[in-house]
Amino acid sequence: MTSPVIIAIDGYSSTGKSTFAKAIAKELGYIYIDTGAMYRAVTLFALRNGFVSKNNTIDTEALRKMLFSGEHPVVISFRTTGPDGASETWLNGENVERDIRTIEISRVVSHIAAVPMVREFVDRSLHEIGSGKGVVMDGRDIGTAVFPDAEIKIFMTARPEVRARRRYEEMRSKGQETPYEEVLGNIRERDYIDEHRKTAPLSRAADAELLDNSDMTVEEQIQWFKDLLKRRHLCGF
Ligand code: DC
Repeated sequence: MTSPVIIAIDGYSSTGKSTFAKAIAKELGYIYIDTGAMYRAVTLFALRNGFVSKNNTIDTEALRKMLFSGEHPVVISFRTTGPDGASETWLNGENVERDIRTIEISRVVSHIAAVPMVREFVDRSLHEIGSGKGVVMDGRDIGTAVFPDAEIKIFMTARPEVRARRRYEEMRSKGQETPYEEVLGNIRERDYIDEHRKTAPLSRAADAELLDNSDMTVEEQIQWFKDLLKRRHLCGF
């Protein structure tokens, strides 16, 4: 591509957004930003500081004071670690990549991500990272709310049954035996929560290209992206 741009990738959970985003970031020599990791890092911070009660009520005032404190700002950053474009998440100088992927964080993160002030904090951090362009960001609201002017927007989807099958196989390979029907139920539930949230709900931007990868391999998705660049007269590979 002639000059670096912002590529926004949004879509439903378990559609392979990060695999796709990492692959195109690697091809283009761009930075990959997993925006869900930001919400996970804020969740870890809130839990560690005792701002989340047992029934997932959040002490938003206490959290606000910490997140927006001028004296001790909360800093979340990413460091690329592997040749596949993988990166690790750091919170205030500590590598928290493993800590943010636990079941406990997954349970609480959707509640934290629904707090408008938290979204404001994450959006501000993403703008600091994205201002230099040359980034691929994946999330739920990047093309609609965070970077509505992103040069390339992609909205990813796949049939719920296909997503559940992929997730089921992934969990099994990690030794987690969860019935397929339960995985499918969880995917449908998360779709509903993401789409019906008051602030920045998941939706396809009017100018986002739709990528339904239900019946596509990763290689086919990369080819689809190359074709998209050609169609849009952007060369990248
Ligand atoms: O993609 P993930 O499962 O790591 O995302 C974690 C949570 O953050 C999930 O509840 C959706 C939310 N999220 C969001 O609301 N907006 C984003 N841009 C990215 C993630």
